[in-house]
Amino acid sequence: MGKTARAADKSADRGAEKGVQRCIDSACGATYGLRERIYVCPRCGGTLEIDCHLVASGGATALRKRWAARAASRDPRDVSGVWRYREMLPFDEPIPFVTLFEGNTPLYHGPRSARYCGLDDLRLKHQGCNPTGSFKDTGMSTAITQAVVVGARTAVCASTGNTSASLAAYAGRAGLQSAVLLPRGQTTAGKLAQSLDYGALVCEIDGNFDDCMRLIQELGDDPSIYVANSINPFRIEGQKTVAFELMEQCLWQVPDHVVVPGGNMGNSTALGKGFQELLELRMIDRLPKLSVIQAEGAAPLARLFETLDLRQTAGGEHLPETMAPVKNPRTLATAIKIGAPVSWKKALRAVLRSGGKIIAVSEQEIADAKAMIGRDGIGCEPGSATTVAGIKKLVAAGHIRADENVIAVLTGHMLKDPDYVSQYHRGTLGLDSGGTDGSAPSRPIDGAFQNSPERVAANKAAILATLERRR
Ligand code: F0G
Repeated sequence: MGKTARAADKSADRGAEKGVQRCIDSACGATYGLRERIYVCPRCGGTLEIDCHLVASGGATALRKRWAARAASRDPRDVSGVWRYREMLPFDEPIPFVTLFEGNTPLYHGPRSARYCGLDDLRLKHQGCNPTGSFKDTGMSTAITQAVVVGARTAVCASTGNTSASLAAYAGRAGLQSAVLLPRGQTTAGKLAQSLDYGALVCEIDGNFDDCMRLIQELGDDPSIYVANSINPFRIEGQKTVAFELMEQCLWQVPDHVVVPGGNMGNSTALGKGFQELLELRMIDRLPKLSVIQAEGAAPLARLFETLDLRQTAGGEHLPETMAPVKNPRTLATAIKIGAPVSWKKALRAVLRSGGKIIAVSEQEIADAKAMIGRDGIGCEPGSATTVAGIKKLVAAGHIRADENVIAVLTGHMLKDPDYVSQYHRGTLGLDSGGTDGSAPSRPIDGAFQNSPERVAANKAAILATLERRR
């Protein structure tokens, strides 16, 4: 076949596909077919997103009804909280979908957390109730499915621990080899154990997450490798479905605010994309304000946000070219210990479009908010608690009103990091010095809502007396 014929053939294939991969850089805007195994724009190096040809056949009401009916079906595609929304996903039928029945996570009321924040009500969408205990599973389901579609041999990622656990599990389901790059000594024991058990090759790298991410970008050139970090736009496609599930749980009443933690910025990008697509299909009539919360010691995007003149960004149309990374990110919320988030532009665009904010919270604020979420009987890992800490600050600053409808997205399960929890309640939590010369003092964190275990004599009277004292 001649070159022109091949090109024509390729574009005909593309026309039949459910969407394209598009460079988000407005000066470039290049498009590529869905089967092209690329992670950044080959022309300009920009970030890619998937532009789906969305059609709500039969109209928005019919699509809502179809999704609701699937929630009662036993077809595996419908049991999954990702594939139930398959109209919105860039895959052709029959889809070789890889699932662990992700999604379907609860939306809880958190009365104590609400009071703590100064709100009348607060709801918590617990993505930590996914099969591997974090929100990563929704995106991994689509990313590993795409790895199967393109015939990849080995799926790889850099991770602070949750992406790797999820990748290892889904690759295991698909029978693919997996390898994960983790910053040595900076991943919680629980997360590391998951990757080992699911059969991944665990590479402990001397360096931080950003160093692992740089290595991944180099490895992506190898034809045997499939990169499943959230720079891969197929990850975002799965993760955006949480917006659809959330709207169903809210009976299609758009919340005023949705607040998420920020690390590598895939989650905020995905939620923003999900809501934007619902708006385009007229399934919702406005966007919730999307706000992102980072940990103070790993907050490059919050720092950039502070310097922006919001009038000049034109609702996310004009974005800054660069973001200064944090060279040595520091936080006990290891999940979000990231200094150079790869999806920062897409996330910033989503926040600006919606009218939300990007702010940072301190280690003490994270720790106390986490204990408050625990008191509601919910629990989460430290990175997730940035949301409640951030909401408290945004209420105090007047960005969120007490009577507004607010959702915090919790991203990871409490048992991902039990050491942190235990140290907080025993009053032994602290951020290590981390000074390059080792001389900076360590910063203790006060267990303001401490609940340390008590040594009680082994008899009924002693137990009852202890209970009485604590009443
Ligand atoms: N919360 C948890 C529990 C996480 O594990 C992460 C990211 C985030 C929030 C931030 O989400 O990166 O999409 O902005 N963890 C990644 C990982 C980086 O490797 O597990 P993000």
